[in-house]
Amino acid sequence: MKNILITGCNRGIGLEFVKQLSLTGVNLIATYRDRNSSQELFAIADECSNIELLQLDVSSENSMVLFQSSLMERPIDVFINNAGIMGSGSKNFGSIAVQNWIEVLNVNTVAPLILTQKLYKNLLNGNDKKLIYVSSKMGSIEDNNGGSSYVYRSSKTALNQVVKTLSVDLSPKGFTIIAVHPGWVQTDMGGPNALIDTKTSVSGLIGVIQNLKGSDNGKFFNYDGQLISW
Ligand SMILES: NC(=O)c1ccc[n+]([C@@H]2O[C@H](COP(=O)([O-])OP(=O)(O)OC[C@H]3O[C@@H](n4cnc5c(N)ncnc54)[C@H](OP(=O)(O)O)[C@@H]3O)[C@@H](O)[C@H]2O)c1
Repeated sequence: MKNILITGCNRGIGLEFVKQLSLTGVNLIATYRDRNSSQELFAIADECSNIELLQLDVSSENSMVLFQSSLMERPIDVFINNAGIMGSGSKNFGSIAVQNWIEVLNVNTVAPLILTQKLYKNLLNGNDKKLIYVSSKMGSIEDNNGGSSYVYRSSKTALNQVVKTLSVDLSPKGFTIIAVHPGWVQTDMGGPNALIDTKTSVSGLIGVIQNLKGSDNGKFFNYDGQLISW
Protein backbone atom coordinates (compact mmCIF):
# COMPACT_ATOMS: atom_id res chain seq x y z
CA MET A 1 0.00 0.00 0.00
CA LYS A 2 1.04 3.57 -0.67
CA ASN A 3 2.36 5.62 2.26
CA ILE A 4 1.15 9.21 2.31
CA LEU A 5 2.49 11.74 4.81
CA ILE A 6 0.45 14.87 5.57
CA THR A 7 1.42 17.64 8.01
CA GLY A 8 -1.00 19.78 10.02
CA CYS A 9 -3.89 17.29 10.19
CA ASN A 10 -5.87 18.23 13.30
CA ARG A 11 -8.12 20.77 11.55
CA GLY A 12 -8.95 22.50 8.30
CA ILE A 13 -7.60 21.22 5.00
CA GLY A 14 -5.23 18.70 6.63
CA LEU A 15 -8.07 17.04 8.57
CA GLU A 16 -10.15 16.80 5.39
CA PHE A 17 -7.20 15.16 3.58
CA VAL A 18 -7.20 12.53 6.34
CA LYS A 19 -10.97 11.98 6.06
CA GLN A 20 -10.92 11.55 2.28
CA LEU A 21 -7.63 9.68 1.83
CA SER A 22 -8.33 7.24 4.67
CA LEU A 23 -11.18 5.86 2.51
CA THR A 24 -8.89 5.11 -0.43
CA GLY A 25 -6.95 2.18 1.03
CA VAL A 26 -3.64 3.96 1.55
CA ASN A 27 -1.49 4.13 4.68
CA LEU A 28 -1.65 7.61 6.14
CA ILE A 29 0.96 9.15 8.39
CA ALA A 30 -0.84 12.22 9.72
CA THR A 31 0.89 14.76 11.95
CA TYR A 32 -0.55 16.95 14.66
CA ARG A 33 1.13 19.47 16.94
CA ASP A 34 -0.92 19.42 20.13
CA ARG A 35 -2.99 16.42 21.20
CA ASN A 36 -5.40 18.62 23.20
CA SER A 37 -6.57 20.34 20.02
CA SER A 38 -6.65 17.15 17.94
CA GLN A 39 -9.64 15.25 19.36
CA GLU A 40 -11.47 14.86 16.05
CA LEU A 41 -8.32 13.54 14.36
CA PHE A 42 -7.72 11.02 17.17
CA ALA A 43 -11.35 9.89 17.01
CA ILE A 44 -11.05 9.25 13.25
CA ALA A 45 -7.75 7.40 13.69
CA ASP A 46 -9.29 5.20 16.40
CA GLU A 47 -11.74 3.90 13.79
CA CYS A 48 -9.18 3.41 10.98
CA SER A 49 -6.28 0.98 11.12
CA ASN A 50 -4.60 2.71 8.15
CA ILE A 51 -4.01 6.04 9.95
CA GLU A 52 -0.93 6.56 12.08
CA LEU A 53 -0.70 9.77 14.08
CA LEU A 54 2.67 11.30 14.88
CA GLN A 55 3.51 14.51 16.72
CA LEU A 56 5.34 17.20 14.74
CA ASP A 57 5.86 20.90 15.31
CA VAL A 58 7.41 22.19 12.09
CA SER A 59 8.67 25.35 13.79
CA SER A 60 11.08 23.18 15.82
CA GLU A 61 14.07 21.51 14.19
CA ASN A 62 14.32 19.18 17.19
CA SER A 63 10.72 18.07 16.64
CA MET A 64 11.54 17.36 12.98
CA VAL A 65 14.55 15.24 14.02
CA LEU A 66 12.45 13.21 16.49
CA PHE A 67 9.73 12.80 13.88
CA GLN A 68 12.18 11.54 11.25
CA SER A 69 13.78 9.11 13.68
CA SER A 70 10.38 7.62 14.48
CA LEU A 71 9.90 6.92 10.76
CA MET A 72 13.29 5.22 10.47
CA GLU A 73 13.80 4.00 6.84
CA ARG A 74 10.09 3.79 6.05
CA PRO A 75 9.28 4.83 2.47
CA ILE A 76 7.04 7.82 1.83
CA ASP A 77 5.36 7.75 -1.58
CA VAL A 78 3.50 11.04 -1.38
CA PHE A 79 4.41 13.94 0.93
CA ILE A 80 1.76 16.65 1.41
CA ASN A 81 3.29 19.65 3.17
CA ASN A 82 0.10 21.29 4.42
CA ALA A 83 0.89 22.93 7.79
CA GLY A 84 0.92 26.70 7.50
CA ILE A 85 0.05 29.90 9.31
CA MET A 86 -1.27 33.33 8.39
CA GLY A 87 0.42 35.10 11.29
CA SER A 88 -1.35 37.11 13.92
CA GLY A 89 0.23 40.51 13.33
CA SER A 90 -0.78 43.44 11.14
CA LYS A 91 -1.08 42.83 7.39
CA ASN A 92 -0.65 46.45 6.39
CA PHE A 93 2.16 48.74 5.32
CA GLY A 94 3.35 50.87 8.23
CA SER A 95 2.80 48.29 10.95
CA ILE A 96 4.47 45.05 9.87
CA ALA A 97 6.27 43.51 12.88
CA VAL A 98 9.64 41.78 12.53
CA GLN A 99 9.00 38.89 14.93
CA ASN A 100 5.64 37.95 13.42
CA TRP A 101 7.15 37.95 9.91
CA ILE A 102 10.02 35.69 11.02
CA GLU A 103 7.59 33.22 12.65
CA VAL A 104 5.49 33.00 9.49
CA LEU A 105 8.55 32.59 7.25
CA ASN A 106 9.80 29.86 9.57
CA VAL A 107 6.61 27.77 9.32
CA ASN A 108 5.58 28.50 5.72
CA THR A 109 8.95 28.71 3.95
CA VAL A 110 11.87 27.40 6.02
CA ALA A 111 10.17 24.34 7.54
CA PRO A 112 8.96 22.80 4.25
CA LEU A 113 12.51 22.67 2.87
CA ILE A 114 14.19 21.60 6.12
CA LEU A 115 11.60 18.86 6.63
CA THR A 116 12.12 17.70 3.02
CA GLN A 117 15.88 17.52 3.65
CA LYS A 118 15.39 15.52 6.85
CA LEU A 119 12.96 13.11 5.16
CA TYR A 120 15.04 12.75 2.01
CA LYS A 121 15.95 9.08 2.56
CA ASN A 122 12.30 8.17 3.24
CA LEU A 123 11.23 10.07 0.13
CA LEU A 124 13.90 8.37 -1.99
CA ASN A 125 12.64 5.00 -0.71
CA GLY A 126 9.12 5.81 -1.95
CA ASN A 127 7.76 4.65 -5.30
CA ASP A 128 5.62 7.59 -6.41
CA LYS A 129 8.06 10.32 -5.34
CA LYS A 130 5.35 13.01 -5.37
CA LEU A 131 6.03 16.08 -3.21
CA ILE A 132 3.08 18.44 -2.81
CA TYR A 133 3.47 21.81 -1.10
CA VAL A 134 0.31 23.64 -0.10
CA SER A 135 1.01 27.21 -1.10
CA SER A 136 -1.43 30.02 -1.90
CA LYS A 137 -2.43 32.16 -4.85
CA MET A 138 -1.57 35.03 -2.48
CA GLY A 139 2.05 34.05 -3.13
CA SER A 140 1.68 34.55 -6.88
CA ILE A 141 3.42 37.77 -7.96
CA GLU A 142 1.50 37.81 -11.25
CA ASP A 143 -1.84 37.54 -9.42
CA ASN A 144 -1.15 40.24 -6.82
CA ASN A 145 -3.63 43.02 -7.51
CA GLY A 146 -4.86 43.30 -3.94
CA GLY A 147 -1.74 44.47 -2.09
CA SER A 148 -1.39 44.18 1.72
CA SER A 149 -0.70 40.84 3.53
CA TYR A 150 3.08 41.35 3.14
CA VAL A 151 3.95 38.65 5.63
CA TYR A 152 1.77 35.81 4.34
CA ARG A 153 2.22 36.71 0.67
CA SER A 154 6.01 36.83 0.89
CA SER A 155 6.17 33.55 2.84
CA LYS A 156 4.22 31.73 0.11
CA THR A 157 6.13 33.47 -2.73
CA ALA A 158 9.35 32.25 -1.15
CA LEU A 159 7.83 28.78 -0.70
CA ASN A 160 7.03 28.78 -4.42
CA GLN A 161 10.69 29.49 -5.19
CA VAL A 162 11.70 26.65 -2.84
CA VAL A 163 9.31 24.30 -4.67
CA LYS A 164 10.54 25.35 -8.12
CA THR A 165 14.17 24.93 -7.07
CA LEU A 166 13.50 21.52 -5.51
CA SER A 167 11.78 20.47 -8.73
CA VAL A 168 14.97 21.26 -10.66
CA ASP A 169 17.35 19.71 -8.15
CA LEU A 170 15.44 16.48 -7.49
CA SER A 171 13.97 15.70 -10.92
CA PRO A 172 16.99 13.51 -11.85
CA LYS A 173 16.01 11.28 -8.90
CA GLY A 174 12.51 10.80 -10.32
CA PHE A 175 10.57 13.23 -8.13
CA THR A 176 7.50 15.18 -9.25
CA ILE A 177 7.28 18.33 -7.15
CA ILE A 178 4.50 20.89 -7.28
CA ALA A 179 2.93 23.78 -5.39
CA VAL A 180 -0.86 23.84 -5.01
CA HIS A 181 -3.44 26.48 -4.15
CA PRO A 182 -6.37 24.94 -2.24
CA GLY A 183 -8.79 27.75 -3.14
CA TRP A 184 -10.20 30.21 -0.62
CA VAL A 185 -11.42 27.62 1.85
CA GLN A 186 -13.75 27.75 4.88
CA THR A 187 -11.27 26.91 7.67
CA ASP A 188 -9.95 28.78 10.69
CA MET A 189 -7.51 30.45 8.32
CA GLY A 190 -9.89 31.10 5.42
CA GLY A 191 -12.78 32.25 7.63
CA PRO A 192 -16.52 31.66 7.21
CA ASN A 193 -16.88 33.87 4.11
CA ALA A 194 -14.45 31.80 2.06
CA LEU A 195 -15.72 30.59 -1.31
CA ILE A 196 -15.48 26.80 -0.96
CA ASP A 197 -15.65 24.14 1.76
CA THR A 198 -12.86 21.75 2.68
CA LYS A 199 -14.58 18.83 0.89
CA THR A 200 -14.53 20.66 -2.46
CA SER A 201 -10.96 21.86 -2.00
CA VAL A 202 -9.52 18.52 -0.93
CA SER A 203 -11.38 16.37 -3.44
CA GLY A 204 -9.99 18.68 -6.15
CA LEU A 205 -6.47 18.50 -4.71
CA ILE A 206 -6.60 14.71 -4.49
CA GLY A 207 -7.56 14.65 -8.18
CA VAL A 208 -4.57 16.89 -8.99
CA ILE A 209 -2.24 14.58 -7.04
CA GLN A 210 -3.64 11.38 -8.56
CA ASN A 211 -3.35 12.74 -12.11
CA LEU A 212 0.18 14.12 -11.70
CA LYS A 213 2.56 13.28 -14.54
CA GLY A 214 6.32 13.66 -14.64
CA SER A 215 5.87 16.58 -17.05
CA ASP A 216 3.96 18.46 -14.30
CA ASN A 217 7.14 18.74 -12.24
CA GLY A 218 7.79 22.33 -11.13
CA LYS A 219 4.26 23.64 -11.75
CA PHE A 220 1.78 25.56 -9.56
CA PHE A 221 -1.74 24.08 -9.64
CA ASN A 222 -5.10 25.38 -8.48
CA TYR A 223 -7.27 22.82 -6.64
CA ASP A 224 -9.39 22.45 -9.79
CA GLY A 225 -6.39 21.42 -11.90
CA GLN A 226 -5.86 24.80 -13.61
CA LEU A 227 -2.31 26.15 -13.72
CA ILE A 228 -1.47 29.31 -11.74
CA SER A 229 1.29 31.65 -12.84
CA TRP A 230 4.13 32.10 -10.38
N1 LIG B 1 -7.93 28.31 4.01
C1 LIG B 1 -7.58 28.97 2.91
O1 LIG B 1 -8.38 29.72 2.33
C2 LIG B 1 -6.20 28.79 2.33
C3 LIG B 1 -5.91 29.44 1.12
C4 LIG B 1 -4.66 29.28 0.55
C5 LIG B 1 -3.72 28.47 1.16
N2 LIG B 1 -4.01 27.85 2.35
C6 LIG B 1 -2.97 27.01 2.94
O2 LIG B 1 -3.50 25.74 3.24
C7 LIG B 1 -2.80 25.14 4.34
C8 LIG B 1 -3.79 24.67 5.39
O3 LIG B 1 -4.55 25.81 5.78
P1 LIG B 1 -5.95 25.72 6.57
O4 LIG B 1 -6.86 26.65 5.90
O5 LIG B 1 -6.33 24.31 6.80
O6 LIG B 1 -5.48 26.42 7.93
P2 LIG B 1 -5.89 26.11 9.46
O7 LIG B 1 -7.28 25.65 9.56
O8 LIG B 1 -5.43 27.34 10.19
O9 LIG B 1 -4.93 24.86 9.83
C9 LIG B 1 -3.53 25.03 9.82
C10 LIG B 1 -2.89 23.71 10.16
O10 LIG B 1 -1.46 23.90 10.20
C11 LIG B 1 -0.99 23.42 11.48
N3 LIG B 1 0.20 24.14 11.94
C12 LIG B 1 0.37 25.46 12.12
N4 LIG B 1 1.58 25.70 12.65
C13 LIG B 1 2.20 24.50 12.78
C14 LIG B 1 3.45 24.09 13.27
N5 LIG B 1 4.35 24.96 13.76
N6 LIG B 1 3.76 22.77 13.26
C15 LIG B 1 2.85 21.86 12.80
N7 LIG B 1 1.63 22.17 12.35
C16 LIG B 1 1.31 23.49 12.35
C17 LIG B 1 -2.15 23.68 12.41
O11 LIG B 1 -1.98 22.95 13.62
P3 LIG B 1 -2.39 23.61 15.07
O12 LIG B 1 -3.87 23.39 15.24
O13 LIG B 1 -1.56 22.86 16.04
O14 LIG B 1 -2.05 25.07 14.99
C18 LIG B 1 -3.31 23.20 11.55
O15 LIG B 1 -3.37 21.79 11.55
C19 LIG B 1 -1.85 26.22 4.84
O16 LIG B 1 -0.55 26.00 4.31
C20 LIG B 1 -2.43 27.51 4.26
O17 LIG B 1 -1.47 28.52 4.10
C21 LIG B 1 -5.24 27.99 2.94
